[in-house]
Amino acid sequence: MSKSILITGGAGFIGSHVVRRFVNEYPNYKVYNLDKLTYAGNLENLKDIEGKDNYEFIKGDICDGPFIVSLFEKYDFDGVIHLAAESHVDRSIKNPMAFVETNVIGTVTLLNAAKNAWQGKEGKRFYHVSTDEVYGALGEEGFFLETTPYDPKSPYSASKASSDHFVRAYQNTYGLPVVISNCSNNYGPNHFPEKLIPLVINNIQQKKPIPVYGKGENVRDWLYVIDHARAIDVIFHKGENGETYNIGGFNEWKNIDLVRLLCNIMDEKLGRAAGESEGLITYVTDRAGHDLRYAIDATKLKNELGWEPSLQFEEGLEKTVDWYLNNKEWLEDIVSGDYQNYYKDQYQ
Ligand code: NAD
Ligand code: DAU
Repeated sequence: MSKSILITGGAGFIGSHVVRRFVNEYPNYKVYNLDKLTYAGNLENLKDIEGKDNYEFIKGDICDGPFIVSLFEKYDFDGVIHLAAESHVDRSIKNPMAFVETNVIGTVTLLNAAKNAWQGKEGKRFYHVSTDEVYGALGEEGFFLETTPYDPKSPYSASKASSDHFVRAYQNTYGLPVVISNCSNNYGPNHFPEKLIPLVINNIQQKKPIPVYGKGENVRDWLYVIDHARAIDVIFHKGENGETYNIGGFNEWKNIDLVRLLCNIMDEKLGRAAGESEGLITYVTDRAGHDLRYAIDATKLKNELGWEPSLQFEEGLEKTVDWYLNNKEWLEDIVSGDYQNYYKDQYQ
């Protein structure tokens, strides 16, 4: 094997697409997927690559220092692609401490292990996967650039911003070779159904109310998850150490317009009367501190590394709906479980 790669959070939504891509595209790499399997981790996401020679799953917690050190000793990683995180904004409002633990302490635990294991060694790389939410919220106009000052506004984005700062501090202080990307909202297969798009798809199927926060006027910038995995591949291999790359599809949607579009697609696919699912839309209390608008300028990634999204949104959304309709068991297994109460009493 030419490289030993640690991918954290590989059983989650984005991580599973990154693991699959690296296992399939790089048969000479050995890919180690380290995941704690929280409520959001699901090995069903990786069924198709289970058993491949260049893939190994390791169950474990990124906050467990001695265990992480032992993995670096045992597997002599050349690269780390770090995705493991608590990822849901609404949960961070209820349980901020879980986000401090995994997103901040977990990231620093990995950085420490990499710093010590890689001292005096060449050709190593620590890739930290982050979010556009670290930049805060936009008004009606403008875009997030790599140079936009950090202004996180939710406990989730504050924890991700903190982890980004630690990654840069490890480069500046200890010379650790790092690269960071900040991506906009992802959607696609295996998206956990507490997030807007799969939640809407599930509720339409079940004919349950579709909760739209506030007036539905908040704007998100959506990117197909496989395009994010492609971008991570390009940045991991061609990005410059110490650089930040924004990833996004120049694809802004008001929540209410997106929900209506999904209702139309689903009515057609399910053979329901036009407009039927829109009747399920229910305006509910807004998210506390709800960021109005995100919009990523991904020009640097296009100009310097040649990456562009491959799919138009309508096409990606249709593929996504088809995936959920063809994988009802995957969805049913999750929604029939008790995922909503995960962490309920632990951190209050
Ligand atoms: P996810 O919640 O679907 O998956 C997170 C994974 O991390 C799960 O498999 C979980 O089991 C694992 N995990 C959590 N805590 C862990 C721990 N302590 N030790 C080991 N594993 C642990 O998240 P996602 O949406 O796939 O996001 C992945 C990364 O991408 C996160 O860092 C997130 O901040 C970032 N990101 C997400 C989006 C998005 O739209 N979803 C956009 C930009 C950036
Ligand atoms: O921008 C990148 C971020 O996108 C990632 O860093 C996060 O990990 C990811 O969860 C996502 O955060 P959002 O908060 O934007 O995603 P979410 O799907 O939770 O919400 C999308 C929008 O929809 C947001 O404006 C809130 C709104 N919403 C959400 C839910 C769950 C609703 O109106 N109703 C809902 O039920």
